[in-house]
Amino acid sequence: MSEFSHVRRIDVMRSKLFVPADRPALFPKAMASAADAICFDLEDSVLPAQKAKARDLLQEFLASEFHTRKVILVRVNQVRSADFAEDISVAVSPRVAVVALPKLQDPWEIRDTTAALQALEKMRNIEIPIGILATIESARGLRLAASIAAADERVVGLQLGFADMFVSLGIRHDDAMAAHHVRLQLRFAAGEAGLPSYDSVFVNFKNEEGFMREADLARGLGFAGKSCIHPSQIAAANRMFSPSPEEIAAAMCCVDAARSAAAEGAAAFALDGCMIDLPLVRRAEHIIDVAAKIRLLEQSD
Ligand code: COA
Ligand code: MG
Repeated sequence: MSEFSHVRRIDVMRSKLFVPADRPALFPKAMASAADAICFDLEDSVLPAQKAKARDLLQEFLASEFHTRKVILVRVNQVRSADFAEDISVAVSPRVAVVALPKLQDPWEIRDTTAALQALEKMRNIEIPIGILATIESARGLRLAASIAAADERVVGLQLGFADMFVSLGIRHDDAMAAHHVRLQLRFAAGEAGLPSYDSVFVNFKNEEGFMREADLARGLGFAGKSCIHPSQIAAANRMFSPSPEEIAAAMCCVDAARSAAAEGAAAFALDGCMIDLPLVRRAEHIIDVAAKIRLLEQSD
């Protein structure tokens, strides 16, 4: 068994709420929200002059007394930036499950981050390795996304960042074809490494319909969740990335039927006029597994 087999993996992350790390008034509100994950941001939502203060505030919060089942993430500044060393030092805490790396350009940035995490974890006697959420938000990052995803066992998923990517390329933010192309490419890259992918933020937080439309498109491409920038988006993300009662019932039916068919020596069988075989049974098992994890998470809240 590899030493990383127990990296802090993400079970469920339908909604991930961003909180600027220099706004401590938002911390308790975020923690009290229904978001599956909270991502404390040291990157683009914090002004350069505020970075040091943001690190101090976040460090203080992470050292405080709290209990949560939420996934706690810290988004640090770019691996090659001057802030990275101090950011990662704050992020390496028993409270933090995952470090979110922005604007990834190549797999070496993952390897360098792993080295930094390893050294800090060893120094602080942190036994469970911290995971890495790799954010793809540039042309180069997208081209190398599969190598980035496979660069290290610490990588727990690929996060899509439309804003940086589209702005830098002059692509209109509402170009649906471009968004579809990028989402699909990212999904394949993550899938090649057996990892989940997470959809970008939707900045117009008063437009719930627009958020739902994007989440629906992402879900249709197998994405596991979507970033939120405002508490008003959390319920929609949780709903959209949960299997519906009908999907769960159909999945259970499928698994039961597969069991009966196997007992009779058949891998392929008919159910409601459709042929079912292994990939569809695996998909049904996955839906049941996700539903169980969500139930567990919601019961414990
Ligand atoms: N986390 C926790 N609470 C939040 C929040 C967040 N990200 N965003 C807003 N809230 C709270 C507000 O404090 C307010 O609380 P109150 O009712 O107790 O006063 C309530 O939700 C409603 O907020 P609202 O007044 O509608 O928004 P705002 O003008 O205060 O903030 C943003 C709007 C966009 C500035 C803010 O939502 C935000 O900073 N989002 C995160 C940005 C970020 O991290 N970006 C980086 C990733 S792309
Ligand atoms: Mg970005």
